[in-house]
Amino acid sequence: MRIAVLASGRGSNLARILETTRTGLLSAEVALVVVNRPGVGAEAIAREAGIPIVVEDDRAHPDRGAHERAIARALAAHGIELVVLAGYMRILTPFLVGFLYDPELGQSRIVNIHPADPARYRGPDGYGWAIATGQTETAVTVHFVDEGLDTGLPLRQETVPVEPGDTLDTLRARGLAVEHRLFPEALRDLVARLKGATPCVAS
Ligand code: GRF
Repeated sequence: MRIAVLASGRGSNLARILETTRTGLLSAEVALVVVNRPGVGAEAIAREAGIPIVVEDDRAHPDRGAHERAIARALAAHGIELVVLAGYMRILTPFLVGFLYDPELGQSRIVNIHPADPARYRGPDGYGWAIATGQTETAVTVHFVDEGLDTGLPLRQETVPVEPGDTLDTLRARGLAVEHRLFPEALRDLVARLKGATPCVAS
């Protein structure tokens, strides 16, 4: 199973996914990393691991459609079968969602990790939201991706307690530890499910 990871920043989930492909927990190959900002941590992690990297700066394209068409060409060129958004800070348009749609799965072959329960918070700052609104618990959710903001069907979810006295940093550290376990597990289960299905390669 050839996976592409799309990222915009630090890349700790990318690093963890790469680790689990090496240990065998995840029997898949990260065959491509796409970043939309040059110089981000994820790019350095991919380079260090010798993974092919495509930098597609969204600011270098006239519109979202042109940016996504460039990404789709890269996915097709690398024979990608599953796309993993790991801190990718862009909402996908119907074009890319449709490009990876798998009729047998009834979903696009795109998954995301969201640092909250999307039923309670959608957006990029899940841990900040939990602290700012005084939550006593929050969640980490792995979900299929559609064209909405964190609206896709959940695959796996785990509760993350918010302890009294937590700061953004302490909560984020606890949440990331959960992310780094939950994301590879969810991917392992999905890859197993897809292996029994008709091959569907981005083209
Ligand atoms: C994670 O908290 C993830 O849940 C969210 O963006 C963050 C990415 O972190 N979507 P990293 O780049 O994987 O370290």
